[in-house]
Amino acid sequence: MRDRLLAAEKVKAIDWRDGALYLLDQRILPAEEVWLAYADARGVAEAIRSMVVRGAPAIGISAAYGIVLAVRQRLAAGGDWKAALEEDFTVLAESRPTAVNLFWALNRMRERLERLKSTDDPLAVMEAEAISIHESDREANLTMAQLGVELIRKHQGSEQAVLTHCNTGALATGGFGTALGVIRGAWLEGMIERVYADETRPWLQGSRLTAWELANEGIPVTLNADSAAAHLMKTKGITWVIVGADRITANGDVANKIGTYQLAVNAMHHGVRFMVVAPSSTIDMSLASGDDIPIEERAGSELLEVGGQRVGADVDAFNPVFDVTPADLIDAIVTEKGVVERPDTAKMTQLMCRKRLH
Ligand code: MRU
Repeated sequence: MRDRLLAAEKVKAIDWRDGALYLLDQRILPAEEVWLAYADARGVAEAIRSMVVRGAPAIGISAAYGIVLAVRQRLAAGGDWKAALEEDFTVLAESRPTAVNLFWALNRMRERLERLKSTDDPLAVMEAEAISIHESDREANLTMAQLGVELIRKHQGSEQAVLTHCNTGALATGGFGTALGVIRGAWLEGMIERVYADETRPWLQGSRLTAWELANEGIPVTLNADSAAAHLMKTKGITWVIVGADRITANGDVANKIGTYQLAVNAMHHGVRFMVVAPSSTIDMSLASGDDIPIEERAGSELLEVGGQRVGADVDAFNPVFDVTPADLIDAIVTEKGVVERPDTAKMTQLMCRKRLH
């Protein structure tokens, strides 16, 4: 399946080429495909904040390249370049609060920086570290796809229809996706007949990005309003809800795109299985439970306007963009280190002690 999955890779969101970072502007997809070039950490931080690039792993990878750009700039400026680099770490860390992959990638870059020897070429070493973060995310996607497909096979009944939320595909990762990677794999194996994609209000990652990625690959996809999910579970033979994650805490609670929690509640009610697919860089063992996860709130205009036109009444809008699904609503968390069924603190701790499976 690995080779077939690699052959199916069509879209990418991040391109590191000749020492420069290019990001596919996800704010205007699928209407236009525009690549933007970035030359410094501040620009990359702004790209993350404004959602040119989004999706937990993609944010982390972009931030790592942002540090490489900063190293080049700070070295050229001379003086105490390592001290000056602190400002770049800070500006990138402040770009978005919920996806822990951002902080994980920045920590990895910092650790590498601290291990530099006097004989090292700092720019080459830091670039290699960012590329390795990018490459290992791609590898993790492949392993998770295989593990997720095995899990579906283990529980397979009749024909499968799955429901997904937000965008967890090539646009959100360094490879072809987390939840969407499993869905791609299951489609290639003939185990899925149709994918239902929540439109994912208010930013429409589902209708603009997920539906576009799947349609590009000829995978049957039907778009639905987020509020149709319970009705779909009751009437359309959904067997799995498959989603990604932005942060998973030590007890197995999962922060993901707003609306995920209500999907899990509905799935439990309808006897539909609930799978979370995320690399171990999304797991934050320093937080005991989802109550400790900072939840990003974005501008009310994302709710009150459509295409820049005001459609809502003249009221305040509350726009939290993530929610937390409690571990006891989750059937399985699939990572590149292995699968945790019915997650709890003991199982998550055991998982994080394991090496990667590839
Ligand atoms: O606000 P976004 O688009 O960055 O949110 C993305 C999600 O919530 C995804 O489901 C999550 O990052 C998993 S992506 C592999």
